[in-house]
Amino acid sequence: MQLLHIDSAITGEQSVSRELTARTVAAWKAAHPGTTVQYLDLAVQAPSHLSAQSMGFRTGQAAATDVERQENALSEALVSQFLAADVVVIGAPLYNFSIPSQLKAWIDRLAQAGRTFKYTDKGPVGLAGGKTVIVASSRGGVYSTSEGGQAMEHQESYLKVVFGFFGITDVRFVRAEGVAMGPDAKAAALVNADRDVQAHTAAAANQPHATQAA
Ligand SMILES: Cc1cc2nc3c(=O)[nH]c(=O)nc-3n(C[C@H](O)[C@H](O)[C@H](O)COP(=O)(O)O)c2cc1C
Repeated sequence: MQLLHIDSAITGEQSVSRELTARTVAAWKAAHPGTTVQYLDLAVQAPSHLSAQSMGFRTGQAAATDVERQENALSEALVSQFLAADVVVIGAPLYNFSIPSQLKAWIDRLAQAGRTFKYTDKGPVGLAGGKTVIVASSRGGVYSTSEGGQAMEHQESYLKVVFGFFGITDVRFVRAEGVAMGPDAKAAALVNADRDVQAHTAAAANQPHATQAA
């Protein structure tokens, strides 16, 4: 089994989401011996924003410059790495109501027609199904317990949509929220997140958890 471990937090050793992805990957490996792990730190090495030079996978035109060739190769490497993974663990902090732009840049390289989705006469069809995605979500405030909060966050909701668009129905969340609301709130958030880690990494956890109770 191949696991792709991704971090995107810019907060280094203070990062809550990095701590949660580390715990999630360790628990997954303990429950699933034989798992091999690839690691991608998007805060260190993020793909550049999509540009005219990196649109080869959309236009289908042959690269005309070295920059275009490099960008095409990077898009291909990232989508191949993603498609090869059985399990993807993603550290996704809430920054300004959404995900870090580094994580968005990675997703923009994955959204390739013919690789992760296709359009048909009945609408879009995902091509990357059969994987488990575990999102380690960290948030300064609390968003999950009210309709207003849920409407404000474009982090978990966005990730659920985009991986669903890729055909992935098994999207699970390890969530620590309210981590900026004082030491007690942060401690409670980490206890809740640990509960999520255990629930989503246990060997028998083969049911979709996409709609974890808000
Ligand atoms: C640049 C930045 C933007 C943030 N924006 C929000 C926000 O919109 N809402 C919120 O509740 N917390 C926000 N926070 C707090 C983070 O969600 C919180 O610190 C979380 O732990 C970040 O994950 P990390 O520790 O892995 O970096 C922000 C933090 C940073 C550094």
